[in-house]
Amino acid sequence: MPYEDLKGKCALITGAGKETGIGYAIAGKLASLGCHIILSDLWPENGKELGRLCGLLSQRHSVKTVPLDLDVTNQGSVDKAVEKVKAAFPRLDVLVNNAGAALGVPSAVHTYNDDAWLKTFDINFHGTYRVSKAMLPLMFGSSTCILNVASKAGKSPLPFNGAYGCAKSAVITLTKVMAKELASFGIRVNAICPGLIMTGLQRWRLELEAQWFETTPEEREKERSKEIPLGYFAQPEVVADLAAFLASGESSYITGQAINVDGGQVMEL
Ligand SMILES: NC(=O)c1ccc[n+]([C@@H]2O[C@H](COP(=O)([O-])OP(=O)(O)OC[C@H]3O[C@@H](n4cnc5c(N)ncnc54)[C@H](O)[C@@H]3O)[C@@H](O)[C@H]2O)c1
Repeated sequence: MPYEDLKGKCALITGAGKETGIGYAIAGKLASLGCHIILSDLWPENGKELGRLCGLLSQRHSVKTVPLDLDVTNQGSVDKAVEKVKAAFPRLDVLVNNAGAALGVPSAVHTYNDDAWLKTFDINFHGTYRVSKAMLPLMFGSSTCILNVASKAGKSPLPFNGAYGCAKSAVITLTKVMAKELASFGIRVNAICPGLIMTGLQRWRLELEAQWFETTPEEREKERSKEIPLGYFAQPEVVADLAAFLASGESSYITGQAINVDGGQVMEL
């Protein structure tokens, strides 16, 4: 049966504390395939919600779930998270680096706020580096995988959102470097590049754009949908479907790739 190898495995997803987000959709999909789930996010903002979402996943899919306080920009928080994962599971099979944000937007590079630029890099890029490095000792020993949620913006320049796009490009390069370094250990590393996916983050961007263009978020959505060959913003589940494929043995010969799930917005040879 496809995806049967995921049953009983353990997956950690960062930035997964919002029910409307891509991280929770990935967690839901992996749980539906029998994976035990460590659901992590910033605790002060999302701790209570993480507990509720873990309860939902356990109830629906009869898997073990653990809510985890993990700020990907804080080394102390990452170190504590490693200890908690070790205490909960004998090993980690799937790491999904999903936490992300775009601070200081919209702004051109020459007017960008330095703190917002650095913080955006820290969450998206160094967060992926920091968590991967810390969790890898729990992943050696059998075939495991890392999935990095990058973005279409890491492949195709998005003006006035420079820090985010540059950080996501760096995530794609990190994915490829680690894929080469870890291949001989049986660890695959791939990136997922979503396009326009309707989450809280995307709604916030549409509202910002609506203010900028003096229109409504609904009008902006209509307008921006014209950029998408398939013609619409997708739901987070389309990203979760790709994540499940890349986490499973169905993709056993795929590593070091950055795969678009964007309705055809970026087409590469
Ligand atoms: N929605 C889209 O259209 C889209 C497109 C391309 C890429 N992405 C990427 O997908 C991922 C998920 O985004 P989303 O759209 O679900 O948005 P979201 O805002 O729902 O999810 C992002 C999550 O990251 C968490 N986060 C922020 N800073 C953190 C930190 N320091 N430590 C730990 N967690 C932190 C937030 O609390 C939030 O839960 C992000 O990496 C984003 O860049 C989204």
